[in-house]
Amino acid sequence: MSEFQPKIVAFCCNWCSYAGADQAGLRRLQYPPTARIVRIMCSGRLDPVFVLEAFRYGADGVLVAGCHTPTDCHYTSGNFKAERRVLLLRKLLEQLGLEPERLRLEWISASEGEKFARVIEEMTQKLKELGPSPLKSA
Ligand code: FES
Repeated sequence: MSEFQPKIVAFCCNWCSYAGADQAGLRRLQYPPTARIVRIMCSGRLDPVFVLEAFRYGADGVLVAGCHTPTDCHYTSGNFKAERRVLLLRKLLEQLGLEPERLRLEWISASEGEKFARVIEEMTQKLKELGPSPLKSA
């Protein structure tokens, strides 16, 4: 039987984290091919429904990545809003029977390709430990 390869949906803000992911690709950094990136203009644009829908459609984990706090967000305070939403979403996930560790929040700048690659590597390992999302069998 082949090894479980988790699916990660990564919501990356346009100005920092998406560019960080791009940087990882340009530098040909090695990291698992487990992430599907969704570009959003700001992490503050993250509607909590996006995360719930990602899990509903089969994601094993979700990454929300935005600009470093507090001054880097191009929309002033979007990353603060994202942080609050992720905290609430983790509680909600627990109520739904999902491990809160399946949802991760990171601040990744445009120059941090290595950090992006490391976060995906760490998430992939963690999700392998946790196994497939229980929602997949529901
Ligand atoms: Fe990147 Fe707001 S623009 S988090």
